[in-house]
Formats: sequence, structure tokens, C-alpha cells
Amino acid sequence: MKIVNLGSLNVDHVYRVDQFIVAGETKACQSLAENAGGKGLNQSVAAARTGVEVYHAGFVGQGSAILTDALTRGGVRLDLLETKDIPNGHAIIQVDDNGQNCIIIYGGTNQCLTEEYIDRVLGQLTGDDMLLLQNETNLVPYAIEAAHARGIPVAMNVAPMDEKAKRYPLGKLRWLVVNEIEGAALAGGSTFEETMDNLIAAYPETGIVLTLGSEGAWFHDGDRDIRMGCAKVPKVVDTTAAGDTFLGYFLAGMLNQLDPAEALRRATFASALTIQSPGAADSIPNAAQVDAVIASGALGELACTDSADAVKDAKGAKDAK
Ligand code: RIB
Repeated sequence: MKIVNLGSLNVDHVYRVDQFIVAGETKACQSLAENAGGKGLNQSVAAARTGVEVYHAGFVGQGSAILTDALTRGGVRLDLLETKDIPNGHAIIQVDDNGQNCIIIYGGTNQCLTEEYIDRVLGQLTGDDMLLLQNETNLVPYAIEAAHARGIPVAMNVAPMDEKAKRYPLGKLRWLVVNEIEGAALAGGSTFEETMDNLIAAYPETGIVLTLGSEGAWFHDGDRDIRMGCAKVPKVVDTTAAGDTFLGYFLAGMLNQLDPAEALRRATFASALTIQSPGAADSIPNAAQVDAVIASGALGELACTDSADAVKDAKGAKDAK
């Protein structure tokens, strides 16, 4: 039982600014840092830090030690990673005084995957494993179709959202993870409720996780429907990789057969820790740190509405009669 992440890897160039730059403006940054990132790499590290076996697949270019070192530190297996004579993917990130970010990505190696390579990677998975994808690599539809044909469950984070993604065979996914903006762009909807209804109608066989920023997250899979609230974070330092942390923890929880409400809870606390440190992959906590913060109660309790509780309550009321 393992996660194989056919995922992006970026060298993040992070510029701290008071406020994001606007058209026509030139400004000096407060600081510059170079970090390992990429939605794929961050998600691999998050899942591996829970203790699950994770392989990161994809291409890196020359001078990629910053990326491979971060994966190794995170406990991710590199056996499937290949080195090519192509520039690495990178990201230009502004982080403002509120810890919010805006990001431009350059695809590099992430956009050079081949069908032959994807087939070789898929040859390493069985139906007990999970293939993980994001929308920062090329040949996403090919990977979904080929994995589905082999009976391999696929999870995808459709980020960053673009026009192409609307034509992907997302109904063949086991798990679709999107934020409220991506969800609305995919399926339509002017409220969270409408967006979730539309996603369920569009992808009835797929478990859906809709992340809602400060409103928490919404899970729907078959008969189960869970709304999970947000943690109380004293100071947001850098939101980069918060969504990636959430996804890695959630998916690892699913693979470990955790109850979905518990997986969402751990994912929420893990991402609440990520945003209290600067950077991407290196800001992701491990399972012991998540356990400790939950035990301490320092980030509060999470509000949760769970359809399973409603079923239990109804049964209890019936039994009591
Ligand atoms: O989700 C955060 C990531 O998005 C950054 O690490 C950056 O590389 C971009 O891919």
C-alpha cells in the first residue's frame, strides 16, 4: 500500500513584500529565499511525514539537489525519479505581510513527461496503491486513463486550474481535491453549496474534497458528508503549501483506512501548522508534531458536521423508543 505521486517539483524563489506588487510598480523586496516546492513535491512530503510509503515520480533537471534533498528529508522514496538535461520547474512567489502568496510557475521538467515513462511508473502500482496527480505536469489525462484502465485508484488535486482541466476525465478519479475557486470553475456554482452539488452531479463515482480556506473543508463520498471547520491559528506567517499539506495528510489517512472525519481533522491541524512557518516542503509537520498540537488544544477544537453522526443519532432515538 503506497502512494506514487507523478508530481511536479519546483525550485521556489520567494520574495517577501509588504503588499503584492501592482501593474506598473517597481519595489524592493524585504528578503529572498530559495526553497524546495512544487505542489507535487509538497504533497509527497506531507503524505510521507504521516508515515505512509510515498514514491515521487517525475523528472528533475541538472542542479536539482535542493529538490531531491527535500524529498529525502521528508522521507519520500526517489527510486522512480529521473534526471534529464532540461531546466527544473520553478516558481516565483510573493509572500505579503499577512502571509498570503501569489505564484507564477515555469513548467520546465514538469512539462516534459512522456507516455512511455508514465507507463513504466504505472507498472510499479497495484490496485491497493494510489496514484496522485496535480495540474502542474503534462499528460494528466493520459495518466488518469492509463491508471484507470489498470484498476489503480487515482487522486487528483486540480491545481492550478486552467481551461484544459475542464476536459480531463475527472469522473474516473477516486478522489478529487479542489478549492472553492477551482471547484466553481470546474462545475459551476456561486455558493459552496451549489459548487458541491454540481461537483457531485458531475462526478458521481468520485469522492470529493472541497477546501474552503477559512471556512474549513467539505467532504462528500457516497453516503458520507462531512463539514470540517478551521483551526485557530495565532499568526499566519506563510500560507504556501497549506493546501498541499492538507491533501497529503488527508490522502495518507484514507490509505491508512482512517475514518474520513479523523483524516480531515488531522489534515486541518497539519496545514494549520504549515502556515505558521515560512517556506513550502520544509514547513510541513510530521505526525508527532500534529499529535502534539492536537493534544495541547493550542489551535482549538474543530467544528464538525458529519452525516454519520446524524445516522447514529437517528438510530439512538429509534432504539430508545
Ligand atoms: O502549493 C504551493 C506550491 O505551488 C509552491 O511550492 C509552488 O512551487 C507552486 O507549485
